[in-house]
Amino acid sequence: MNSKQTNKLFEEIVKYPGMTHQSGSIGFIEKMIIGQLLLISQPKLIIETGTFHGQTTRFLADFISLNNLGECRIASFDLPNVINELTETNSYFKNNPKIELVQGWLPQSLKDYLKQTNKPVNFAIVDAQHSYNAVIKELNIIHLWLKAGCYIFCHDYRENDPNYEGVVFAVDKFAKKNNYNILPLNSSTLNDEEVVWGAALLRKPLRKRQFSKGLFYQFHMIYSLMTATIKNLYDTNK
Ligand SMILES: C[S@@+](CC[C@H](N)C(=O)[O-])C[C@H]1O[C@@H](n2cnc3c(N)ncnc32)[C@H](O)[C@@H]1O
Repeated sequence: MNSKQTNKLFEEIVKYPGMTHQSGSIGFIEKMIIGQLLLISQPKLIIETGTFHGQTTRFLADFISLNNLGECRIASFDLPNVINELTETNSYFKNNPKIELVQGWLPQSLKDYLKQTNKPVNFAIVDAQHSYNAVIKELNIIHLWLKAGCYIFCHDYRENDPNYEGVVFAVDKFAKKNNYNILPLNSSTLNDEEVVWGAALLRKPLRKRQFSKGLFYQFHMIYSLMTATIKNLYDTNK
């Protein structure tokens, strides 16, 4: 198989929209990873905290269309002035049926939106304010609505970068407390090169495992009670 054939085959599996990079936005490699996660998740509802100029929001919508991933709503959150400017200056975001730009202060805007929408979240990107408090609050809200087995992409998880200590601390603490799998991407501990980007992937544990473990302990308790009762009956009848 020659390289032309390989490229064709790759294009048949996954199609990427054209990407232009802008400082402050999620980078190319990260978007490639996000694309793969969208293929896995086949999402119906995506949350993005931090819209900025909408580059990632647009990437999500275009990727979903190009790869025929079906009906999906993308809710992206930012401050009123940011959203107003974006809708006034960029016609792509006006009346786009896939995209909902939600204006307001996070985390309250996110909490209100999810409560009102009352639908499970299949994929989330956390990329608004990069402080410990902001990240942990957003993660805690998303956790309540995220489907088991689904992913949260935490942007700017940069180990050993003092500017992003809060993000790393919040993501680690959240993952540990809620039993999420965590995969740091482009970990700065892997090499000595300058770290220009960093992110972490969080995966919500599957209910099946939680359920079977819980069931196991319940079963264990009932079994212990039963054996104790039978033993008592046997002892009193002796
Ligand atoms: C890094 S940018 C988001 C980049 C975007 N995800 C992308 O990839 O293009 C962060 C955005 O978060 C917004 N933001 C920061 N704090 C916020 C808050 N408390 N409520 C709502 N938006 C906030 C900022 O206005 C800014 O546009």
